[in-house]
Amino acid sequence: MDLNHRHLVSIADLSRKDIETILQRAEKIEKLPRAEQARILPDKILGTLFFEPSTRTRLSFESAMLRSGGKVLGFADASVSSTKKGETLEDTIRVVSNYCDIIAMRHPEAGSADRAAKVATVPVINGGDGPNQHPTQTLLDLYTIKKAHGKIDGLNIGMLGDLKYGRTVHSLSRALTHFDCRQYWISHESLKMPEAEKQFVVGAGKKFSEGEKLKDFLPELDVLYVTRVQGERFPSKEEFEKVKGFYVVSKDALSKAKPSLKVMHPLPRVGEISLDVDSTQFAVYFEQTANGVPIRQAIMSLLLKVEV
Ligand code: NCD
Repeated sequence: MDLNHRHLVSIADLSRKDIETILQRAEKIEKLPRAEQARILPDKILGTLFFEPSTRTRLSFESAMLRSGGKVLGFADASVSSTKKGETLEDTIRVVSNYCDIIAMRHPEAGSADRAAKVATVPVINGGDGPNQHPTQTLLDLYTIKKAHGKIDGLNIGMLGDLKYGRTVHSLSRALTHFDCRQYWISHESLKMPEAEKQFVVGAGKKFSEGEKLKDFLPELDVLYVTRVQGERFPSKEEFEKVKGFYVVSKDALSKAKPSLKVMHPLPRVGEISLDVDSTQFAVYFEQTANGVPIRQAIMSLLLKVEV
């Protein structure tokens, strides 16, 4: 089992076989007792450079390294780093490469992870680059789908909410082109899947449906992946205010869903899924967050070429 990559910048860099390798390794790691997990990366240091807010991505990366027996350093707020003094991203990455064995980075600019990978002397993992990509989220999403349905092929996957600025759905949509899935993109007219993402899916010969109303597609779905409207990426507050409350997925709204439907969300949710869904058989979004740990243990051990 091997992954022939030095960095993980974009989900599009991974083949179906690479994705399967990562999911299989996560499954294996998750089954190991804690004491054995702690022998995976005992001499490694993870650097977490988060130039944008994060709860799950940063903490699950740190948990993954700590559970694997390694150590962590980094910052969760770029205003306490030399970025504040005007240091370039490239210089920061060159320097931090000397202090750790692998870097997980989140940054507000699309393309920043690629820039970091070009100058780093250690592997760089993209923990989200602006509205562009969030590959590790997608891997834990696929792991969650596989656990819930026992497969990924043959499923109808709906994505709802902010498909324009949401990096999680951009990565997920690209990854699903490796599988025999139909995609359903449900959003407000102004927040549709960008043309580049659409072309990627079409180019891969895959089918998608697009529309504004959840009820038009709901009965067909096996997965409903809900996203937050990304207020911080809107050009103006007025534009955001117009669309922010457009969707609320409630227990009632799911009454026509297949009993086996799984509702996912990368979180944080800010009103798109009402609390009454939490106790239904549909909700898997908290399990989804837990899956971030074995997936990130798998990714780090594979990039560091460590056998498990
Ligand atoms: C997402 C992100 O940062 O893109 N969160 C996450 O990593 N779990 C989703 C979001 O912020 O809406």
